Amino acid sequence: MIEELAEHEAAAVAAIDRADSLDALASAKTEALGKNAPLTSAQRNLGSLPPEKRKDAGKALNEVRRRVEARLEAKTADLAESERAARLVAERLDLTEVPVEVEVGHAHVVTQAWEELEDVFVGMGFRVAEGPEVETDWHNFDALNIPPRHPARDAFDTIYVNHGEPGSTLLRTHTSPVQIRAMLDQEPPIYVVAPGRVFRRDTADATHMPVFHQIEGLVVDRGISLADLAGTIEAFTESYFGPGFTSRLRPNYFPFTEPSAEFDIQLPDGSWLELGGSGMVHPNVLRAGGIDPEEWTGFAFGFGIDRLAAMKFRIDDLRDMFTEDLRFLSQF
Ligand code: DAH
Repeated sequence: MIEELAEHEAAAVAAIDRADSLDALASAKTEALGKNAPLTSAQRNLGSLPPEKRKDAGKALNEVRRRVEARLEAKTADLAESERAARLVAERLDLTEVPVEVEVGHAHVVTQAWEELEDVFVGMGFRVAEGPEVETDWHNFDALNIPPRHPARDAFDTIYVNHGEPGSTLLRTHTSPVQIRAMLDQEPPIYVVAPGRVFRRDTADATHMPVFHQIEGLVVDRGISLADLAGTIEAFTESYFGPGFTSRLRPNYFPFTEPSAEFDIQLPDGSWLELGGSGMVHPNVLRAGGIDPEEWTGFAFGFGIDRLAAMKFRIDDLRDMFTEDLRFLSQF
């Protein structure tokens, strides 16, 4: 019986050692210690041994079982560890950051100036308004007190569009028609700025582009005077350009304002920059916008965004701003 036990133990250990996975080990366990295992039948047979042999055989059998179980346990731990390690390798994700050269773009110089201007005026209580780029002759001229054959029309090299009556539709030559749209859209008080793209039949040169950008301002309220216009231009100048910059108004003529003034900005070095036009909204313009000039008064102003951006970034040829040359544009 004792010799047989040694053989059974050796067979059980061999089966355990052979197992190369936890599944295989489960079969080895059945083979070594299961219902039909030799060690189990030996245990069942203990009862048929003579009493004097039974005790030693029982003890020996218990020791064998304990050793086989210990071997099994050690092998289980071994296999579990190597299977875990294998799984980790298989499921490994490489999360190392790979440095990639990405070139991040930014807004165009004109867009930057446009957005800064909006911010400054919104900060002063203005709302941003919009109008179409393809405009009616009426909004662009008539409603702004420039009737057909008025000499002021010659100052605008207008691009007409082949739509409707000849001469009735055009690419807006300035942002001023948005004044009319704002008045027709809402009751006074009105405080709006309208930045946008405008078009003229012009040949591009260092200071002119056939497509350029303007920002228009319109205020209509009770008791608005020229002092409000001057104060607004001055507040804008300080806010946009910074301390040390001031503004002045110079008498001028525009059909849509009376009186009219050109406004200039004085730089800290004392030099003057002509920025745009302004004035008190002409009564005919208020009427075209459906507003009673006896009850309401207003002022308006308008200036070019491109020249402003060019000045700010010291760009001396407007055409350079509208190339697609990133080597140039990425500087600003
Ligand atoms: N629309 C004018 C232009 O393009 C600029 C201008 C002048 C706008 C006087 C105004 C204004 O609102 O009051 O030359």
